[in-house]
Amino acid sequence: MSGRYDEVYARSLRDPEGFWGEAAEDVHWYKRWDRVLDTSRAPFYRWFSGGEVNTCYNALDRHVEGGRADQLALIYDSPVAGVKASFTYRELLDAVSRFAGVLVNLGVGRGDRVLIYMPNIPEAVIGVLACARIGAVHSVVFGGFASNELAVRIDDAQPKLVLAASCGIETNRVIPYMPLLDRALEMASAKPEKCVVLQRPQGRAELTPGRDIDWMEADSAASPVECVPVAATDPLYILYTSGTTGNPKGVVHDNGGHLVALKWSMPNVYGVKPGETYWAASDVGWAVGHSYIIYAPLFHGCTSVLYEGKPVGTPDAGAFWRVISEYGVRVFFTAPTAFRAIKREDPNAELVRNYDLSGLRAQFLAGERADPDTLQWAERALGVPVIDHWWQTETAWPMAANCLGIESLPVKYGSPTRAVPGYDVRVLDEHGTEVPAGTMGAIVVKLPLPPGCLPTLWNNDEGYRKSYLSRFEGFYETADAGYLDEDGYLWIMSRTDDIINVAGHRLSTGLMEEVLAAHPDVAECAVIGVADALKGQLPLGLVVLKAGVQRAESEIVAELVQMMRDRIGAVAAFKQACVVARLPKTRSGKVLRGTMRKIADSVEFRVPPTIDDPAVLDEITQALRGLGYAG
Ligand code: COA
Ligand code: AMP
Repeated sequence: MSGRYDEVYARSLRDPEGFWGEAAEDVHWYKRWDRVLDTSRAPFYRWFSGGEVNTCYNALDRHVEGGRADQLALIYDSPVAGVKASFTYRELLDAVSRFAGVLVNLGVGRGDRVLIYMPNIPEAVIGVLACARIGAVHSVVFGGFASNELAVRIDDAQPKLVLAASCGIETNRVIPYMPLLDRALEMASAKPEKCVVLQRPQGRAELTPGRDIDWMEADSAASPVECVPVAATDPLYILYTSGTTGNPKGVVHDNGGHLVALKWSMPNVYGVKPGETYWAASDVGWAVGHSYIIYAPLFHGCTSVLYEGKPVGTPDAGAFWRVISEYGVRVFFTAPTAFRAIKREDPNAELVRNYDLSGLRAQFLAGERADPDTLQWAERALGVPVIDHWWQTETAWPMAANCLGIESLPVKYGSPTRAVPGYDVRVLDEHGTEVPAGTMGAIVVKLPLPPGCLPTLWNNDEGYRKSYLSRFEGFYETADAGYLDEDGYLWIMSRTDDIINVAGHRLSTGLMEEVLAAHPDVAECAVIGVADALKGQLPLGLVVLKAGVQRAESEIVAELVQMMRDRIGAVAAFKQACVVARLPKTRSGKVLRGTMRKIADSVEFRVPPTIDDPAVLDEITQALRGLGYAG
């Protein structure tokens, strides 16, 4: 007998227009759509074309008008800054409409890009929503990226304005943001006219006269502005994510489809009601932060928690439990890495006992594979369902989950359960043929993707087609590999590209190799992701030096580590590299990264029949042993 999930899922695929048309009744439209699903430029499908909407109106104004004015919209809790603050829906609306006035005063209008380089502070949320209010397109860059990465994003997005904070705070270290931004602006060719800078007391920045504007001064001089209706298909934001080449991909999300899908996900995937408190412990610079700190909880009239701190060390491994109990969090979302960090410090979850977590109903995990050990540890510690769910920056909301609001399905540890309604998930072999249940292959989604997912890449339709649609015609390629089992449960096993996942952060080893290759002494290099008990994976570099280089290897390695920090940023977590005489290659010259990864992780492997010289593998094993890998 089929259950409610089966019914809802089947309907979403049988009648997508009816399904999403109905979901769209739940949001405010200035003008209804002409077509729910516009196929006229397939495979560039668009949702709700002809419709007019405003994302900020749906996040704030609608709730103030509808009786939630005095309910808390946002709670800011920063153990690192020693600050707690909260905003009711009315207060957040006031702050956002005034800051939207700052943007308008600086000449920002519909369609202009605004780059935001800020940590998890309320002003980042205010900046994002102010952009949405006037139809400007925001692009948030995570604070852990260095100047070069920031410059690449500035050149691609060509923002009219930058919003920045003077600093971020990493546990007890102040990270000045302005020197990074200054350097990025020097490097960039598309220089924005102005920067609005929020001076944080922990580390004030020196402003550049004529370019930089003090946030508070600009804010106090501005008058509130109203929402600007935009086309449902207009871009809401660009979020850059690692691609297979050195250049990040500018993932676009639109206004209408994004609003409908994210609003739908709150009751259906997460089982949350309006008025309840929801917490995603992520960063506004990541997809999770965009969708589940800012947008979805506010669309749904929830109270969202913005936490500026770590799971451990701010001040201890009970930090998450404190926040859950202090604010009555009903549903909590974080990455498995955070739980691994807590488990390492408090293996018996003793700190949980200091807090009342009786209000918590469910715990969601995403961003990387949730290993069954960690998941079961979390179940025991919290005594609530712990749900692994799977998604990507490109989709903005989950592709596979145990949809608590529809039907709670039996858990299979290690699987994010089944496809979320709207996603027709399949597994294909290299010829594009669907494989039987239990057989590994490329995980794809049959087009059209549901609303909310990327319609394209910023200014790059061809790049979108090439990266996602070209390998399997009629399907979106997720670049994850895995299988569907006989019960329709999905198992995500690995990536099919060069992306590695470090502490839930997606990083390109290709980009890291470009950085290593730029060192004057390096002839050849490879970066692999090796297993790490805390962060899931860590990058490790292997370099071959140019003939005649006589310098100490340790000196070169130290320079490589520093280069990675300077070019990509601390977030790359690149701390290990070794010098080798040669790299293992196939006879056609392809570097055998997968084989090296298996050697490092002490996983059984077959010597590839195409290998040029099998003796190289022994040399690599020795080198990896020197770094504490390879058994
Ligand atoms: N600004 C500047 N630097 C930053 C930064 C930011 N916003 N975020 C991270 N960094 C730095 C860190 O300080 C660290 O620098 P270091 O090498 O000098 O110590 C480096 O980037 C790596 O950061 P991170 O991966 O966060 O490692 P960590 O050792 O500081 O913390 C965890 C480890 C497990 C506590 C942390 O990774 C964590 O909380 N993970 C949760 C995962 C998560 O939220 N993922 C988001 C997707 S849902
Ligand atoms: P990002 O775009 O940074 O969110 O990274 C998306 C990638 O993270 C996916 O393509 C997967 O490789 C991985 N990922 C996210 N969630 C999960 C999950 N629940 N299980 C396994 N891998 C995941």
